[in-house]
Amino acid sequence: LRVFVPCETTALSLGAEDVATLISREAAARGLKIELVRNGSRGLFWLEPLVEVDDGTGRRAFGPVEPGDVASLLDSHFGDDHPLALGPTDELPWLKKQQRVTFARLGVTDPVSLDDYRATGGFDGLHHALELTPQQLVDRVKASGLRGRGGAAFPTGIKWQTVLDAAGAQKYIVCNADEGDSGTFADRLVMECDPYMLIEGMIIAGLAVGATQGYIYLREEYPLAHRHLDLAIARAEAAGYLGNNIQNSGRAFALEVRLGAGAYICGEETSLLESLEGKRGMVRAKPPLPAIEGLFGLPTVVNNVLSLAAVPSILRDGPEHYAGFGVERSRGTLPFQLAGNIAQGGLVELAFGHSLRELIEDFGGGSASGRPVRAVQVGGPLGAYLSPAQFDTALDYEAFSAIGAVLGHGGVVVFDDSVDMAEQARFSMEFCVEESCGKCTPCRIGSTRGVEVIDRIMRGENRDANMALLEDLCDTMIQGSLCAMGGMTPFPVKSAYTLFPEDFQRQGGEA
Ligand code: NAI
Ligand code: SF4
Repeated sequence: LRVFVPCETTALSLGAEDVATLISREAAARGLKIELVRNGSRGLFWLEPLVEVDDGTGRRAFGPVEPGDVASLLDSHFGDDHPLALGPTDELPWLKKQQRVTFARLGVTDPVSLDDYRATGGFDGLHHALELTPQQLVDRVKASGLRGRGGAAFPTGIKWQTVLDAAGAQKYIVCNADEGDSGTFADRLVMECDPYMLIEGMIIAGLAVGATQGYIYLREEYPLAHRHLDLAIARAEAAGYLGNNIQNSGRAFALEVRLGAGAYICGEETSLLESLEGKRGMVRAKPPLPAIEGLFGLPTVVNNVLSLAAVPSILRDGPEHYAGFGVERSRGTLPFQLAGNIAQGGLVELAFGHSLRELIEDFGGGSASGRPVRAVQVGGPLGAYLSPAQFDTALDYEAFSAIGAVLGHGGVVVFDDSVDMAEQARFSMEFCVEESCGKCTPCRIGSTRGVEVIDRIMRGENRDANMALLEDLCDTMIQGSLCAMGGMTPFPVKSAYTLFPEDFQRQGGEA
């Protein structure tokens, strides 16, 4: 009997380690022979720790399992009549309704097992890539329609083409694993639960543009991802997937993890590069683009974890397969991350084109509090708030842009009707005060003035004049900021006072 207990941060924080220890102990006490596998998470967070068993007839799930449930689970021989039994894992509607392409292996395998990775199609994409020329590789990525999954949705193939065409004695692949958006965890899941996929994607990117060195810029707050990545890199190196002679091809690629120190702005690509170079994380003006003058002034691909993680399956299954998902110019899938006040939070990978309502109601099951959902913030702290009247908007880049919103990195944070949207707007400005790199005035000073103006509005002082001032300030920040931090902070603020004006008129009257 194989028993799977996730080794992933969410599951661990909910007691998975104790559950694993107890399962081994209780099985031994009963003379039951089991093989304990530490898999990744399936991404159904409200059911963690989700324990699975396989007696040779397929995997069946139980959850959420607490240490106190272990004895009865073993006594019932993991029977289908146990109160925590959920049935065959693959039949769980939450999983069945998804289109898991990048996350097909999520929770299925032992994240650091090279054998598991290879047995599930791992490194097939790399072997194919080794038979292609750099231009053919770039063309494959272009044909897939993949756009930057970090948030800006710039076509990945065009970025790679720019680096391929740029002259440089050394080129770099830099993976942005600083995942700073509130409510997001898809990058973490890749690194904790399927690290070889990211490594494979980075090697292929290196082959495509002629880069022989890669860096994963990882946020320090992800210690388990760090451990799994380091272990996976060492094993991939020992098996000849990294180093000076990848699979005896004569091609080279080396990879290292570098830790960031917790500044949101270091997720912005140019300050990330500054930080990688050992300097303070300050934003650089663009142009020059990192693709032309990036790390140490040399041509550099900076891609988010999810963009690079999509590459192995594009090479293995063909770009047409990937492009077969999605709508219009939004091709492929996006891993949405359901968080905040939501009954069923977790990872939902869907082809573009489904509606936000499906995501919140069908997958999320509404709010965790049971109260009506009033607002949803999509795309992290710089993304606009949406009201229920907009929930039928299709989840695609252009449809969101048409309503003044962004899909960003796919983070979805849900609020019920107890939310105060003026407080939320104030929080956006406050966040910008905290995280601004300080290089330009509209962001550095504007955000501080923004907090003050919203405070005055909330106190009911000169409301009309202060609302006009806030509007003016938002426009100045949008037009005058050097990067998305100052340039997008007004999005959640503007959407809050446009869609929820009543929250800005609560107390007092005109002073
Ligand atoms: P951007 O639009 O300036 O650039 C997007 C990417 O395309 C960059 O890598 C840029 O260097 C590249 N690029 C642009 N033109 C190019 C060309 N002609 N050739 C080659 N490459 C080219 O956007 P930016 O400032 O990089 O990102 C902003 C986005 O980041 C926001 O939309 C936001 O959603 C997202 N974001 C994501 C976070 C996360 O945790 N994942 C956190 C904060 C923001
Ligand atoms: Fe720095 Fe803000 Fe200007 Fe960006 S917008 S460069 S974070 S001061």
